[in-house]
Amino acid sequence: RFEQSLRPQYLSQYIGQHKVKHNLSIFIEAAKMREESLDHVLLHGPPGLGKTTLAAVIANEMEVGVKMTSGPAIERPGDLAAIVSSLEPGDVLFIDEIHRLNRSIEEVLYPAMEDFCLDIVVGKGPAARSVRLDLPPFTLIGATTRAGALSAPLRDRFGVLSRLDYYDAEALTEIVVRSAKLFEADIDPAAAVEIARRSRGTPRIANRLLKRVRDYAQVRGDGSITMDMAEQALEMLQVDPLGLDHIDHKLMTGMMTRFRGGPVGLDTIAASIGEESTTIEDVYEPYLLQIGFIQRTPRGRIVTQTAYEHFKMEMPE
Ligand code: ADE
Repeated sequence: RFEQSLRPQYLSQYIGQHKVKHNLSIFIEAAKMREESLDHVLLHGPPGLGKTTLAAVIANEMEVGVKMTSGPAIERPGDLAAIVSSLEPGDVLFIDEIHRLNRSIEEVLYPAMEDFCLDIVVGKGPAARSVRLDLPPFTLIGATTRAGALSAPLRDRFGVLSRLDYYDAEALTEIVVRSAKLFEADIDPAAAVEIARRSRGTPRIANRLLKRVRDYAQVRGDGSITMDMAEQALEMLQVDPLGLDHIDHKLMTGMMTRFRGGPVGLDTIAASIGEESTTIEDVYEPYLLQIGFIQRTPRGRIVTQTAYEHFKMEMPE
């Protein structure tokens, strides 16, 4: 895939997340010195921050292969058995959305993580028996947007816990400039800053906006991504100066107009704007919390003064 070419391959090319990178570089180097597999790694944080990319980078740095799957894709113990039994010694098994793994699969995963073996029940009824499968040592890399949704026994089996945070404007600008270079697109530094500023601290959004701005510049300009082209394209995309999109707007204005700024419960907000509660909680809310537009209280979410000012609305008494 084209997208693949944007992904960094080494830690040295991975921009931002300095603490996470530094820690990982030590653990990777130590494991390589001892010729062992890397301990299991849990990557958590909001969507779009590069958890999958980082898992591929870790495998590459370890010079091992990687098999990728996701929590919801593993429906039966046999699905897990099929994938782990195809691993070569030291390989990385990446499970995205690991919090969505079924409990019965989790139980099969524990001995796989701890002792590199699988106990699988084959057959049904009186003929059912358990077979033990020895596995090569491997590294499980789990990714989740909600570490809190993981069961404690699963979380406890990861030796490395890394939390990815929203990128600051400088790191995002660097990512935009890097991606533009890979696209062989000419970009004005000010335009790169503007795209970065409107990307909600999220590389996935920055790269998507860059692609759309580049389309716009190609059709409406001479292909060069100038500040003017960037501003017009971002206006067309309805991305506001803080990077808030149509759904963020609907969410915020809904809270301000229908619920007088709260407190209002997550499910109530979700139902009123026709979105899934989990989508709001995992995708939209984290950034709105980060920029201080909403706060969580025991009685529900409330809209802050800062948000009222941004939306030029009067805060109720
Ligand atoms: N693309 C997505 N995330 C990235 C990162 N952290 N560094 C470089 N390129 C990226």
